[in-house]
Order: sequence, then structure tokens, then C-alpha cells
Amino acid sequence: MFRINENYIKLPGSYLFSTIGKKVSVYSTAHPDKKIIRLGIGDVTLPLVPAVTEALHGAVDEMGNAETFRGYAPDLGYEFLRKAIADNDYRARGCDIDADEIFISDGAKCDTGNIQEIFSLDNRVAVCDPVYPVYVDSNVMAGRTGTYDSERETWSDVIYMPCTAENRFAPELPGESRTPDLIYLCFPNNPTGATITRAQLQEWVDYAQKKGAVILYDAAYEAYISEEDVPHSIYECEGAKSCAIEFRSFSKNAGFTGVRLGFTVIPKELKCGDVSLHALWARRHGTKYNGAPYIVQRAGEAVYSEAGKAQLKEQVAYYMKNAKYIFNGLKEAGYTVSGGVNSPYIWLKTPKGMSSWEFFDCLLEQVNVVGTPGSGFGPSGEGYFRLTAFGSYENTVEAVDRIRTLQF
Ligand code: MLT
Repeated sequence: MFRINENYIKLPGSYLFSTIGKKVSVYSTAHPDKKIIRLGIGDVTLPLVPAVTEALHGAVDEMGNAETFRGYAPDLGYEFLRKAIADNDYRARGCDIDADEIFISDGAKCDTGNIQEIFSLDNRVAVCDPVYPVYVDSNVMAGRTGTYDSERETWSDVIYMPCTAENRFAPELPGESRTPDLIYLCFPNNPTGATITRAQLQEWVDYAQKKGAVILYDAAYEAYISEEDVPHSIYECEGAKSCAIEFRSFSKNAGFTGVRLGFTVIPKELKCGDVSLHALWARRHGTKYNGAPYIVQRAGEAVYSEAGKAQLKEQVAYYMKNAKYIFNGLKEAGYTVSGGVNSPYIWLKTPKGMSSWEFFDCLLEQVNVVGTPGSGFGPSGEGYFRLTAFGSYENTVEAVDRIRTLQF
């Protein structure tokens, strides 16, 4: 008789964004006349820029021609894309990352969820609280998180690093009593929109080196950084190549949420004893993955063309204008808001001590605006709420104006 992976049974509820999707769908079915504005999941709304669509069309034509047709992509991704990434995202910022340290994939969600496979089950995981749910849930599925405490909504074997207003939503180094082996960090942060400075990130790198830990650094929102002392990559820090893996996505900087493209950087000098993590991930990638499509990798290359860079700068600026509107509009209305400066996410305190889900229901039912309850990202998110700047400008303005009509 077959048996299932019991770890899946331990997972509480469904994936956060599926739960929200279901709630919104129930409401909209019951109220078909209402115009719902969705500022919940961080999904982009602007179309692909011309540099990208031209590259896609060109690549489709190549695939339809016997001379230029391509079958399976190279295991780790096409050299043209890996080189463009190494040159533009790393070397241009003084980070010594080679093209062959980059693994092309179909997105950062899959990579941040899958990376735990190359680590032993007895590694102790540390996460920020609140946190992007994929980091925790993928470790639950693997059986690395111990038992679930439904009161506190925490796992016994996970180290939670609270990110609260008191520490400006920046995690503090774990105390001596519990030392992590794998440390998930995401900056600019999802969900709080907070960032840390280069000097603060350097402290994490120094800590990881001292403890023999690996930092799993999610930089999916890097394109939204506007301040000078906020690092774009962990490899801007001294020593990071021997203790950090970095994840990037084309979803938020180039609108590829429906196209799918991302990459992971594993420097060759990152080792456990004699074993290179690069070699392990290459083995995993080669066995379980057949690569992002050629046409999509060509589209990714176009992101780094001069035209692509200029067009995407405008796209990011468009979303940041939304972020500013949400931030200022809610602040003027008396809300306590943060994020939104180096990030497309605005993190606000719910009014009058409402719980995150109470505020979610209130916005959905009274003004037909969808956001994301902070508690869905972890216990320290309770009493907070996330709004995304990825809507259209018109909808963003309307949503903020509607929220401002609420009296508490
Ligand atoms: C979010 O809303 O947190 C993100 O869109 C989720 C993701 O990128 O997978």
C-alpha cells in the first residue's frame, strides 16, 4: 500500500494567495456589480515592453526555421543570457560573478522553494517574521521544521527573526541559544518593503561566515531600490561568495510573471568541506529541469539591451509612482505606513487594533479593495496589511481614495 509524504498534511491551510483568491472569488460571485480593485498578490499589470516583445517575435521566427531551430536548452541556461546577467547585474556593480556561476530557471519562487533539497534535513532554518511563505512551506514539505503550534502559528524547529516597527522591520542576528544553518533573507523585503544598508548586510555575511551558515538571499525586488546605501546584490559584501546564494527574478523588474524567467547564483567557492554547492545544484538542475524556453531566454537577454533598460526604467518608475500615491495618501489619512521607497510594497498598520483578516474583510466588503493580510506572512505580521503598487495608476488612485472614505 502506498503512503504519502505526511509532511504535506502538516501544512496549515492553503497557500496564502490561493486563500485570498478564493475569498475574493466568493465575494465577486455574490456581488457581480461591484468593481473590485486587486492590490493583493504582487502581480504586474503593464504589458511587456517593446524591446522584449520584439525579441520574443524574433525568437519565435527562429524556432520556425530549420536553420535556426533549437531543441533542449543547455542545462544551466544559454550563454548569451548568463553573460548578459553577469555583465549587467554583477560586474557593472563591482561583483565578481562569472556567467558559469549563474543558473537560469523559470523563476525565483521555484528556486527559493527547491534550493533546500541540496541541504541535509537536520539543518536549522532561520526566517524573517513576517516572511514570503514559500521559504517556510517548502521546508515543511521536506520535513525540516518540526511540529506546528497552531496557537502561535510557528514551527518548533524554525528560528523566527521578528521584523517589527521597533527594529524598523530589519531582522536581528539570532542569539547564541539557537544558531541557524540556513538563513533566508529577502531585501527589498516581501512583504514589508523594508531594506537594510550595505553595512547591515555585511554584518549578516560576517555572521554566516563565523557560524558556517549559508544565506539564501532573495533579491527579486532589486530593481525598485532607489537609495544609494541599499545593496542590489549580496555579493557587494566582502566574503559573500563563500557563504551566500542569490535568487533573482524577471517578474518584477520586467513584467515576466506570466512569461516565467529567473536565475540563481551559486559561486564556485561556496563549499561544504570539499563539496561545491554549485556542483550539487548543477546535478539537481540537470536531473529535474529542462530549462526555460529559448524564446523566453532571448526575451530575458533583451531586458539588458539599451532599449530594454530604458523602457524598463520607465516601467519601474510607473509602479513607484503608484507606491508613492499609496504611501502618501494613506499617511495623510492617518495610517502608519512603511515600505514603498525601495519597494513596490506598502506595509501599513491596521487601524484601531483590527486583526489583519478583519481589515481584509472590511476593505473587500466596504470599499471593494483587495490587499494581503500581514498575518498570512507570519505571526509578527498580525495587525499589518500589505498593498502592492503593481496595479494601474487609475486603479491605485481609486483604491486609495476609496480606503480614505472609511471612518474608524
Ligand atoms: C507576492 O505577492 O508576494 C508575490 O507576488 C508572490 C510571488 O512573487 O510569488
